Amino acid sequence: MSDELALSDTAVVVDVPDAACTTQEVMIELDRRTTTVSYRRGDTLLQCARSAALRAPYSCEIGSCGTCIARLLEGSARMVNNDVLDDDEVAEGYILTCQALPTSRSVRVVYE
Ligand code: FES
Repeated sequence: MSDELALSDTAVVVDVPDAACTTQEVMIELDRRTTTVSYRRGDTLLQCARSAALRAPYSCEIGSCGTCIARLLEGSARMVNNDVLDDDEVAEGYILTCQALPTSRSVRVVYE
């Protein structure tokens, strides 16, 4: 393998860091109304709701109480901390919005 080919291979495999999140919008369903929020990098889903003046439920804001639980209907997000949800609940789409950073272009969550 030549050096040129090796460099080319390296250039193709790019690991996108979290800071390069490309989320554009977050759709939030609360009280049977859907609000679309332009995503501001670094915001949690709860912060997105607040930026739209939505009265989304929350309490501890450290991932320990479960007050902010919503369900992810579209897209993906990762939780910084989760002391509440078990693996089955996470697999069903439940998420702690105070700890959730979106990782897809658009995200839709519903507060049930
Ligand atoms: S507000 Fe307590 S877990 Fe999110």
